[in-house]
Amino acid sequence: MWERTLRDGTRIPAIGIGTFGSDRYSASDVAAGVETALQVGYRLVDCAAIYGNEDAVGRTLTSAFSGGMARDEVFVMSKVWNDHHAPDRVRVSVEQSLTDLQLDHLDACFIHWPFPNTHGQHARVEDRDPDARPYVHPDFMRSWAALEDLVDEGLVRHAGLSNVTVPKLKLILPECRIQPSLAEMEHHPTLQQGELFQHLVDHDIQVVGYSPLGSPSRPERDRTEDDVADMDSPAVIEIAERRGISRAQVCVAWAINRGAVPIPFSVKEHQLRELYEATSVRLTPGEMNALRGSDRNNRLVKGHVFLWEGADSWLDLWDVDGTIPGWQGYAS
Ligand SMILES: NC(=O)c1ccc[n+]([C@@H]2O[C@H](COP(=O)([O-])OP(=O)(O)OC[C@H]3O[C@@H](n4cnc5c(N)ncnc54)[C@H](OP(=O)(O)O)[C@@H]3O)[C@@H](O)[C@H]2O)c1
Repeated sequence: MWERTLRDGTRIPAIGIGTFGSDRYSASDVAAGVETALQVGYRLVDCAAIYGNEDAVGRTLTSAFSGGMARDEVFVMSKVWNDHHAPDRVRVSVEQSLTDLQLDHLDACFIHWPFPNTHGQHARVEDRDPDARPYVHPDFMRSWAALEDLVDEGLVRHAGLSNVTVPKLKLILPECRIQPSLAEMEHHPTLQQGELFQHLVDHDIQVVGYSPLGSPSRPERDRTEDDVADMDSPAVIEIAERRGISRAQVCVAWAINRGAVPIPFSVKEHQLRELYEATSVRLTPGEMNALRGSDRNNRLVKGHVFLWEGADSWLDLWDVDGTIPGWQGYAS
């Protein structure tokens, strides 16, 4: 089993388990999935306040720890949602996650998105939240500083970014008192985000790759007719057939061989097992090269529900032309 080493020397597993149940899986389904995942061998759990299931996942973790699993063996991550961006709210969010997860510290905590808004996880694309704001750098840094304080206090071991871009990183990293140890980004063969990936590697920030299978059970709001299915990519199919492994295993193996920590979601034991087994697949340079050719800039989690008044398109969330639209117009 591969591991990754964070900037302070902490070693973490090379694969984790996601807990976003999408529109399909209840909190108890997800908690049961985490229990199965721990039995299979997963030791990294990606949670978030907005997933609405941290209390159920917390009961599973507590039961595993009381059954003999050491707390230090499991790397538990959570995230601060968009409606908790103000400094005092960051603390409230982390304290609530700790209560729900029944933990005295989070191993990592991310600011889930760099945009403040009050959208919940079941927001519809056609809704425009009047409270939605673009990325406002000074405000974001105040929230980051609040997370740094929680690291000082030991409530959070590692601070992380999520859904950032290179232009945002160029503003954020020089101003961090505590550098991020990890960053979550959408990461699968048809969305490789090479420039962002390299920027994170160059700054010793561990990439955590979400939706590593191409999120086939994502909510309706995140589906458009242009989306491509990773598991139908010719290179993925070809490698799977030649090696006699599944397409999902190829996707996870690609992420791990690239150096990311993929966090697939499943509540099904056979899926969890085969994904875990993919951690032993060593892809050849030729196979990695073939998979590099699968990149289609196929962003699935577009985030369009977070658009602020005046924004044109979800592309504004991703700084596609290298600038950060909107924020200079907002007083911080
Ligand atoms: N930071 C962020 O903003 C962010 C955003 C999105 C996700 N995440 C995290 O990343 C995690 C994973 O992302 P995701 O849930 O979007 O997508 P994913 O892991 O790419 O896809 C999950 C779906 O793939 C299917 N699947 C799982 N194992 C399989 C296997 N062995 N073979 C075939 N199909 C398989 C399952 O579908 P069925 O249930 O239909 O079997 C499952 O629901 C989330 O749970 C969450 O923790 C973070």
